[in-house]
Amino acid sequence: MRFAMMASGRGSNFQALIDARARGELPGAELVLLIVNRRDAQAAARAEAAGIPWEFIDSEAIARAEFDRRALALLHECRAEAVVLAGFMRLLTPEFIEAFRHRILNIHPALLPLFPGAHAHRDALAAGVVESGCSAHFVDDGVDTGPVILQQAVPVLPDDNAETLAARILPYEHRLLPEAVRLLAAGRLAVEDGIVRILPEK
Ligand code: GRF
Repeated sequence: MRFAMMASGRGSNFQALIDARARGELPGAELVLLIVNRRDAQAAARAEAAGIPWEFIDSEAIARAEFDRRALALLHECRAEAVVLAGFMRLLTPEFIEAFRHRILNIHPALLPLFPGAHAHRDALAAGVVESGCSAHFVDDGVDTGPVILQQAVPVLPDDNAETLAARILPYEHRLLPEAVRLLAAGRLAVEDGIVRILPEK
């Protein structure tokens, strides 16, 4: 299965995919293109180093619908069959999501449906929960509302701030996202009534 990735910044989750692929842990998954929406996205340098083609579409300069149209055109050009949002901090239009229904993965740093949105760690701390974590999920029209694929719980410690909590959760994101890619590429993810079922290995 041909995967395109979209990222906005640091790209450590994208790097986790590159590394998992290099270790042979993603049989059947090809990483064919990275799209970044910010000129300074560090993810682009990671693509360069890994020999993965990348493109920049300036999300500041164009409207969301136009951004998504250009991104879709690039995805079709490289014959992408699935998309991974690896720290891509923008919402996608329903047209984009429909074009890849149940073929767009996202990684989110909280146990969804708790704490969706861009401030998951801050929101988890403000709620006083004793554990948070991360979720790999399919993207639907809502903000972090799509069917959950995999989750990992991580403790919240009394002295945590958003940075320390993020740092504790991040290594688990780096395991969950490649695992979700592996399952999708292996045809092992079925969505029934909005719930993901992980099918047994063939
Ligand atoms: C991660 O915490 C991810 O869950 C969130 O944004 C962050 C991106 O980090 N959506 P990176 O760019 O993958 O390093």
